[in-house]
Amino acid sequence: MVNVKTTRLLATYDSQGFRVAVISRDSARLDKLKDFVSPSTKGNLITLVGNVGSEDGAEEAKQALLKLVGNVTDVVSSLGFSWWQGGPPHTQTVKELHWVIETLLLSTFASWKAFFPLVRDDSDCTYTFITGGAGEKLLMPGTGFLTVGAASALTFCQVLREEYPDVSCKLNQVKINTGVGTPERMAPGFLNHLELGQAVATLIERRNTSHTIYPVSCPADLKTVILEGNL
Ligand SMILES: NC(=O)c1ccc[n+]([C@@H]2O[C@H](COP(=O)([O-])OP(=O)(O)OC[C@H]3O[C@@H](n4cnc5c(N)ncnc54)[C@H](OP(=O)(O)O)[C@@H]3O)[C@@H](O)[C@H]2O)c1
Repeated sequence: MVNVKTTRLLATYDSQGFRVAVISRDSARLDKLKDFVSPSTKGNLITLVGNVGSEDGAEEAKQALLKLVGNVTDVVSSLGFSWWQGGPPHTQTVKELHWVIETLLLSTFASWKAFFPLVRDDSDCTYTFITGGAGEKLLMPGTGFLTVGAASALTFCQVLREEYPDVSCKLNQVKINTGVGTPERMAPGFLNHLELGQAVATLIERRNTSHTIYPVSCPADLKTVILEGNL
């Protein structure tokens, strides 16, 4: 499995003996990640320094990964940033908007272009996007550019569903309409990062839906929406 970037799936996959590969631009972050995995299953975690945000970088990361693992069955794309509140648009710059689009949309596209061919034609394979929930309205005052970026990622996912209606691989999206936190940094209605990871891992393993959006707005949705499929 390739986890383009998220620590959240690790706990579940680690405990079930799957091999998980995580690609990051930052080796220090990968080292931190290794500490998160239990010593007995450390061998199941493959870390790779790479930048999947450009076509060349994503291709290079893919080739390096294939050399290490040989075969990829599931891809999770969770690119972007958690939260950014830069203020209303008249206070911001083109440079900031570039950064937002680069981080939320261009990296999602570049990595998809490189990694999707690895799973596209196999019905036992999956490609899952984790996105924010913007798109319909401003997240809150001051989050205009975050909303633009998140909406562009949502639209990209929609485009893929419509452009590839008959693709064999299971192409799904988990759309998170709330915050995600560690136990130390929780707020009412936030999802626990490990519980989210567990739910996404279950969804991937189930392999029984495709072209489906799983909207998650509160912790209870992890069970009712993702695990029980009440969309
Ligand atoms: N966290 C939340 O509360 C929350 C809530 C709702 C929705 N979401 C959604 O969840 C998704 C992931 O967010 P997150 O909270 O997991 O953010 P995160 O912890 O910041 O992780 C996102 C990862 O994306 C990677 N990335 C960003 N730009 C990149 C680029 N140009 N090239 C390569 N890699 C790049 C970064 O990898 P590096 O390791 O290389 O820096 C980063 O680790 C986003 O779509 C976000 O909208 C998050």
